[in-house]
Amino acid sequence: MAKQEDLFKKIIAHAKEYGFVFPSSEIYDGLSAVYDYGPNGVELKKNIRDFWWKSMVQMHENIVGIDAAIFMHPTVWKASGHVDAFSDPLIDNKDSKKRYRADVLVEDYLSKIETKINKEIAKARKRFGDSFDEKQFRETNPRVVANIAKSEEIKERLYSSLEKEDMAAVKQLIEDLEIADPVSGSKNWTDVRQFNLMFNTQMGSTSDGAMEIFLRPETAQGIFVNYLNVQKTGRMKIPFGIAQTGKAFRNEIVARQFIFRMREFEQMEMQFFVRPGTEMKWFSYWKEQRLKWHLSTGIPEEKYRFHDHEKLAHYANAATDIEFEFPIGFKELEGIHSRTNFDLSAHEKFSGKKLRYFDSEINESYVPNVVETSIGLDRMFLAVLSHSYTEEKLNDGSERVVMKLPPFLAPTKLAVFPLTKKDGLPEKAREIMDKVKMDFMCFYEEKDTIGKRYRRHDAIGTPYCITIDHQTLQDNTVTIRERDTMEQIRIPVNKIHDIVSERLKVVY
Ligand code: GAP
Repeated sequence: MAKQEDLFKKIIAHAKEYGFVFPSSEIYDGLSAVYDYGPNGVELKKNIRDFWWKSMVQMHENIVGIDAAIFMHPTVWKASGHVDAFSDPLIDNKDSKKRYRADVLVEDYLSKIETKINKEIAKARKRFGDSFDEKQFRETNPRVVANIAKSEEIKERLYSSLEKEDMAAVKQLIEDLEIADPVSGSKNWTDVRQFNLMFNTQMGSTSDGAMEIFLRPETAQGIFVNYLNVQKTGRMKIPFGIAQTGKAFRNEIVARQFIFRMREFEQMEMQFFVRPGTEMKWFSYWKEQRLKWHLSTGIPEEKYRFHDHEKLAHYANAATDIEFEFPIGFKELEGIHSRTNFDLSAHEKFSGKKLRYFDSEINESYVPNVVETSIGLDRMFLAVLSHSYTEEKLNDGSERVVMKLPPFLAPTKLAVFPLTKKDGLPEKAREIMDKVKMDFMCFYEEKDTIGKRYRRHDAIGTPYCITIDHQTLQDNTVTIRERDTMEQIRIPVNKIHDIVSERLKVVY
């Protein structure tokens, strides 16, 4: 665990040192859970966003995009349920003064029980080898049976208390389980309170004429309120989807995990409108499609897992998270929800406008059901960054840090180095770069030794570096060096474009 924490700290430091992510307003000591993206970060983030957009909009004929405003009519948030129910149960530790989500404290306790069960199973599997029957073991091993029963009982208590909004019962559960503050070990807790996560502000110039409005806590509602505009103007036929990327804001209580949980973040969401009764088919389809998208980055499957929700939100009839193994453990990266027709029906009710679809195939008019895919761009950024961060010991005894980013996501694709600053080499290098820089991001560097320049580009994940030397002037060849193998070969200048382009291809 300590090793993983160290690794996380190193990744955060690296992200700052190499211009990926800076704390917001750092010269004023930062702003909690708000971050800025630097020159390399903004490129990586843009490449992830473009990859998502391409795979959703460009690759699906029946999905179109929109860009809705962040400010929306305040009734939107009443209809969506955010004004009344977008809150987290909070608890403070009186000794450490730290604030936690009460449900997360209990869920962390549950995952410790889960770890114990998994350890027993792993031990038994080793002992019994091929003849091991996990199902039978789960049903008969006394320690495992007791732990499963305990875990079920805790879940039942937690979820029914949350459902009934019985915060006293949630506190009682924390006390009964003797859950201690993870930082101080103290069990001196305050009562549990509900805390609304939306930021609000005023629109209008006079205080009596001003209207209270909210910074959107999700991009999804901008899609719902535009459903009819898009369906009609695009002549969309069900099933069809609307995609959007953009900022969302939440006054998060527990916000101390770098860009994993931010107060201002970016979402990439798609609402897929379907005929009622077909939503489970589309839910499975999108589960499969979204995992495929993640795997096409080249990040291995074992870093991902599905977590199906046991407790469904009142508007959902199926929900799953795609979890990723971050340095802070397996955590939610993306949510896939079958949201029934809850949102469109609520907007019909609150706006008084019909949000129906006439389905000519069955000659029926209905409010469509919605299957949603929703991923945090910053979380995906963290997933890619943390997976790519690699410390390597080289054959000559030296060490390097290399960002093994999927090449098509790397901020810079090709670094261009003249061997020296004289003899016409810089001019030749720039001439070569000018021919390819329209097609992919290049970076020109002439300072320091070639070795140092390689290290700097390893650290930001540049897949290829080329060196222009005196031989280039003679025979129009350069040395190209590959990031992961560090192999260097001599190639003709006219091959550079093909070699780099080939490496940037993504199979989706
Ligand atoms: N429209 C559905 C929705 O907003 P959500 O599970 O609350 O669902 C979707 O959020 C995704 O947005 C999450 O899976 C996560 O990747 C990202 N996300 C949510 N809160 C976040 C935060 N505070 N900081 C960064 N990303 C966040």
